[in-house]
Amino acid sequence: MSLQPIGIFDSGVGGTSIWKELHKLLPFENTIYLADSRNAPYGEKSDEKILDLSVKNTELLLGKGAKLIVVACNTATTNAIAYLRENYDVPFIGIEPAIKPAALNSKSKIIGVLATQGTLSSALFNNTSKVFSEGVKVMEQNGAGLVPLIESGKAFSAESKNLLLKYLNPMLNEGIDHLVLGCTHYPYLIPILKQILPEHVEIIDSGEAVAKQTYAILLKNNLLATKQIPVNQFYTNANVEILKQFVYKYQVQVNYLDF
Ligand code: DGL
Repeated sequence: MSLQPIGIFDSGVGGTSIWKELHKLLPFENTIYLADSRNAPYGEKSDEKILDLSVKNTELLLGKGAKLIVVACNTATTNAIAYLRENYDVPFIGIEPAIKPAALNSKSKIIGVLATQGTLSSALFNNTSKVFSEGVKVMEQNGAGLVPLIESGKAFSAESKNLLLKYLNPMLNEGIDHLVLGCTHYPYLIPILKQILPEHVEIIDSGEAVAKQTYAILLKNNLLATKQIPVNQFYTNANVEILKQFVYKYQVQVNYLDF
């Protein structure tokens, strides 16, 4: 049993969508969340830069006693998780676009993936996509511009809707029946996505799967917390008020940290 915190990081506020799933499944765990919003978006950065930022976040979380790290960012996972697993002793849980369930359940055999350029161009994503999408057409779309809008508190805006219409119309014209959200910021766009997508198009994200995997790994390593009131600490190196908006329903501490 371990009361050391679970460490979680993302390029910004998006990974709070993962934190919520973790907290639902593992309500007694202490957590520390890092929103590296000053460096968002990661998706437009070079592989080396994404790796450097992931190392910086990991070392900060380990310095704060993390027993396990959730890389709550598809871009950081697909570009850095192999290196992190090789170089640090704690278990790492990553997140990747959920191509497998979308491809398996698709009737039209055409699926869409909305993710960052950094994820779409990574070797890990391309390998996974090849393995799981046999016989299925995968329409990839870089969601450029969406992360900065969500980071500036404009998830529900005409700008977001216009960008999404531009990105999704070609997929809809082609006949997708599943849309994979390949970025942890995008679940915050679901209310707008529901306005745009016909009812039969299923939205797939990986948050719940990440929480289940975290539970399994904590259990396997005998690291689950005992029943207790948890301490949930959130840190951002940018705007505290914006991060607060994403977790206002929860009993958490949100603070600025220069990292
Ligand atoms: N939440 C990150 C992801 O899942 C956003 C990437 C970015 O900052 O561009 O990929």
